[in-house]
Amino acid sequence: MECGENMKREINGELLNVPEHVAVIMDGNGRWAKKRFLPRNYGHAEGAKALEAICENCDKLGIKYLTVYAFSTENWKRSVEEVTGIMNLFRKYLVDSIERSNNSNMKVNLIGKREGLPEDIVQKMDELERETAGNTGLQFHIAINYGGRDEIVRAVKKIMKDADAGKISADDIDESLFAEYLDTKGVPDPDLLIRTSGEERTSNFLPWQLAYSEFYFTDTLWPDFDMDSLIEAVRYYNKRERRFGDAK
Ligand code: FPP
Repeated sequence: MECGENMKREINGELLNVPEHVAVIMDGNGRWAKKRFLPRNYGHAEGAKALEAICENCDKLGIKYLTVYAFSTENWKRSVEEVTGIMNLFRKYLVDSIERSNNSNMKVNLIGKREGLPEDIVQKMDELERETAGNTGLQFHIAINYGGRDEIVRAVKKIMKDADAGKISADDIDESLFAEYLDTKGVPDPDLLIRTSGEERTSNFLPWQLAYSEFYFTDTLWPDFDMDSLIEAVRYYNKRERRFGDAK
């Protein structure tokens, strides 16, 4: 889907164009903890708090879609201790999110590959999606066990199966049909990608969907990313002139 409509809003006395869809690579939890001589998993727990806050803040600013990168298909290479800590954090987060999301009318979807995740986590993901499916506020997508290339390969496999079953033929395939086979089916492409902690790469996050997005990189570590940081990112977005391939 194309990037969506933006909305003008007054934020702290400033009239700003608010992106409809913001995507975030939440980076820097480990460094946040290290600076404080704390274990890395402490940084991830603080990162989870920052995640709760950004959902509230996006909602306050009128952002309609938020997609975050919580765990990549490559993150399994981290130490057993760290992966176990992150999985335990997900367990708690997924359960606690049901009530919190329903209180704020937030709809949650989990994107990424379900295979390879612990069975109880998959059940909690399904439950959170089911329990919040009717909510009409912020549409929140969490990428867990997600890799963009893997998402594209899974899409191709689904297309091949539908072709084998006679449901589609090669001539039916165009960009909009292909996008229907991605995990982000039905969601407008992100207008703005934010990556924290000073790294300037997209690390296999939404390679198809970010084709025309604006990128904002900040040195702020993810657990420190607050409302002021989000407004700064929206201000940066306002300075960009989006042309989607058109001439100047
Ligand atoms: C990147 O920081 C962060 C991660 C790989 C994990 C992201 C997890 C969270 C933000 C926890 C909350 C998420 C949910 C869904 C509860 P890093 O460890 O790569 O930091 P570093 O680059 O400083 O080492």
